[in-house]
Amino acid sequence: MSPRPFHHQVIYQIYPKSFQDSTGDGVGDLRGIIERADYIASLGVDMVWFNPFFVSPGRDNGYDIADYYAIDPAMGTMDDFTELVQALRDRGVGVMLDMVLNHTSTEHEWFQRALAGEQEYIDRYIVRPPQEDGSLPTNWVSKFGGPTWEPLGESGQYYLHLFDVTQADLNWHHPAVREEAARIVNFWRDRGVTGFRFDVINLIGKNTELLDAPAGVDDRLMYTDGVYVDEFLQELNQASFGQDPATVTVGEMSSTTTERCVGYSNPDNHELDMVFSFHHLKVDYENGQKWTTMPADLVALQQIIHDWAAGMQAGGGWNALFWNNHDQPRAINRFGDAGEYREKSAMMLAAMLHLLRGTPFVYMGEEIGMVDPEYTSIDDYVDVEARNAYAALVAAGSSPDDAFAAVLAKARDNARTPMQWDDTPGAGFTTGTPWLQPSRQDEINVKQAAATGEILPFYRKLIALRHDMPLIADGDYQQEFADYANVFGYRRTLNNEQLLVAANMTAETQSITVEAPFIDGSVLIGNYDAPTLAPTMELRPYEVVAVLVDTRS
Ligand code: GLC
Repeated sequence: MSPRPFHHQVIYQIYPKSFQDSTGDGVGDLRGIIERADYIASLGVDMVWFNPFFVSPGRDNGYDIADYYAIDPAMGTMDDFTELVQALRDRGVGVMLDMVLNHTSTEHEWFQRALAGEQEYIDRYIVRPPQEDGSLPTNWVSKFGGPTWEPLGESGQYYLHLFDVTQADLNWHHPAVREEAARIVNFWRDRGVTGFRFDVINLIGKNTELLDAPAGVDDRLMYTDGVYVDEFLQELNQASFGQDPATVTVGEMSSTTTERCVGYSNPDNHELDMVFSFHHLKVDYENGQKWTTMPADLVALQQIIHDWAAGMQAGGGWNALFWNNHDQPRAINRFGDAGEYREKSAMMLAAMLHLLRGTPFVYMGEEIGMVDPEYTSIDDYVDVEARNAYAALVAAGSSPDDAFAAVLAKARDNARTPMQWDDTPGAGFTTGTPWLQPSRQDEINVKQAAATGEILPFYRKLIALRHDMPLIADGDYQQEFADYANVFGYRRTLNNEQLLVAANMTAETQSITVEAPFIDGSVLIGNYDAPTLAPTMELRPYEVVAVLVDTRS
């Protein structure tokens, strides 16, 4: 069967380190994923995006790549990879790999040669002398804390690292860098890969002249969405994945705008199929600061989701839709209820997202309602970002309790805890000691979810609906219930069919006015039994309902 067009697809994300361990060392691996191929296929998803499993020192869990052409031995072998691709293909599921092309690990051969003074390799990175007064080349702050510049050995120059000091930014203005990027993509295409997720790809188009952020200006504006991103993407498209139009591509766009994302994903521009953006996941950042504990601003959340749905539609762009990924705390904890209404709120969030215009991504464990771990100490966390943030907060005067509360709310490890298959101590993920501890696996696990849970069948149904209904994949989007602070709603329209979606984002009942023709419609999907369609309708706690009408009848 040939794959569906990307806007009819649903993509599942697997964090390989945490999906299934086949060796008992407490770390997930490729053979473990092969063992779970039937489960993956049972979800009905079209493709799996795997976080990187290439050779890496693991400072940033695989986003610091030392060899783009080899599998990390801790994860498996090239033969395992071939078998994995085949096992999924046999079940109608494609493989999407994560391409980290903005930076390499400092252990990559290129960087090592740069360090040894070979000019040809120095030129492939972003290397600058200090400013005249001896200060660093720019005043930018690394996304993982501290300055973005580190001395390049004894050379007297500095190399740029927007992330960890072991993640050196590549100079995309160098033709050899662009050629190598295409070569990497093509290497994996030759091995059966039909999808690519491009890591922080809107950071590749930096200016050749790098400038200090003026006082009061966000330094991210100095290097994000640079003027060269589009042309570099077009070149990569032509030299690699664009040669097979069925390849699915998604770019991770940090701190971006709808306008630029329309450009990246409008098919006329021949760049990418779709984009991830993150504004909707910053509505619980107090004053824009991540390491805070503010409850989510639901009004802002709804506004952002609407702005992106409408903005991308108007410009002919395409969104990748997601609540969760390996960098985000679990959405249930942020926008739902991890306690009494865990199942209802998980389903509400799922339907609200899956029926939108865009391609839904489901992050492993989301389909069974996994929640943030209930850790009690900073030592329970592994991630470099969380540990740096904790130390920085304490150094800046926060109490250890306050600093830990911020980590508990925002750490990336919250999503990286092992997939929970059953209620054993290793959660069915490992027979050994898991690299990160599972949490609440006695009640939240696949075995339970498949036997008596509500969330898993609900996800399967949503996935099937996107496949079966052109209205969901292709219909127009229009906002509804705009003046309800607690209800998110929209209408999808295709020819004579219309779908009205209404989601109560709170634990309190909300009353909404339902207009004709929907009062006479039929419920396509909902998370409660027997919703009553009426001009004034009561939405129960975290209730979501999607009502279908055929205006011909
Ligand atoms: C992306 C990845 C994240 C990684 C960063 C640097 O944001 O999703 O996990 O740390 O890029 O590669």
